[in-house]
Order: sequence, then structure tokens, then C-alpha cells
Amino acid sequence: MTGWLGNAYLWVKAAHIIFVIFWMAGLFLLPRYLVHHQEALGTPEAAAWERREALLRRMILGPSIGAVWLLGIALAVNIGLLDGQPGLGWLHAKLLFVVALSGYHGWAVGYAKKLARGQGSTSPRNLRLLGEVPAFAVIFIVVLAVVKPF
Ligand code: HEM
Repeated sequence: MTGWLGNAYLWVKAAHIIFVIFWMAGLFLLPRYLVHHQEALGTPEAAAWERREALLRRMILGPSIGAVWLLGIALAVNIGLLDGQPGLGWLHAKLLFVVALSGYHGWAVGYAKKLARGQGSTSPRNLRLLGEVPAFAVIFIVVLAVVKPF
């Protein structure tokens, strides 16, 4: 299936990057919301954070993670991931990071649900530190995708 996207390849790649930006915007924002939500537990403000988190998940995070995966897989098949093309070590490494980042997404959504039940189990300091995870993941993923070092 190598090259199956034909002339659409660059359009698909542009769409991939657009949805990557949306997904990352959501992944930078949600952990910030979690910090504020946890601080607001037991006050009327907590319900407002719950609503903001639900909106962010429904409008940004959910649709964009789906689009990034779909378009990314289309690109990966286009450059020969399924045909055993050589020189795709960077893509395998990138996929490992993206799977980890998707797991992080799941953790953050799960934590938002926990907070909605009034249960915050992570210390405020650790929650803030966890909020930096997407930034580090993006550095590795973009270097792998653009520089393709191996
Ligand atoms: C979800 C699974 C993902 C898959 C399967 C995937 C796969 C791919 C593939 C195959 C390409 C095309 C490379 C080429 O044709 O040269 C690409 C491009 C790119 N991807 Fe992804 N990707 C995924 C997620 C991400 C994420 C999360 C980011 C950033 C955080 C990202 C950033 C980029 C960038 C910046 C490019 C453009 C590279 C270039 O043209 O130089 N991708 N991706």
C-alpha cells in the first residue's frame, strides 16, 4: 500500500499536523484544569471546572485524538509501515511515544472523572509536575517525525 495516498499525501499530512495542534492544545489545557478543579473541591467552583473539563473533552480532546490517529495511520501505511520498508525506525519510536501520550490522555480523563466524584488522590505538586508530561512527549515526537534520526 506504499504511496496509496497519491496526490492527497501532502493534504493528509497538513490535516495530521492541524489535528496534532488541536490535540496538544487540549492536552496542555486539561492538566491545568485538573489542578484548579482539585483546589476547588468542596466549593461551588468545582462544578464549573467539571463542566469546563467535559466541554474540552467533547469538543477538542476526543475528536482530535481520533483524527490524529486516523490520519497518522493513513500516512504510516502510505510510507510503507505495513510493507516492511527499511528506514522507518523513527516511526516505530514515534509510535511508542504516541501510544504513551494516548495513555496519558486516558489517565487525565480518568482523573477528571475521579475529581467529579470528589476524590483527588494526587498531591498538588505531583499534579502540576504531571502537567508537564505532554511538553516533553511533543519534543521527542516532533524531533523523531521531522529529523528522522534512524
Ligand atoms: C497517533 C499516531 C501517529 C501516527 C501513526 C503518525 C504518523 C506519521 C507519519 C507516518 C507521518 C509522515 C511522515 C512523512 O511522510 O515524512 C507523520 C508526520 C508528522 N507527524 Fe505524526 N503520527 C502520529 C501522531 C503524531 C503526534 C502526536 C505528533 C506531534 C505531537 C505528530 C507530529 C508529526 C509531524 C510534525 C509530522 C510532519 C513531519 C514532516 O513532514 O517532516 N504526529 N506522522
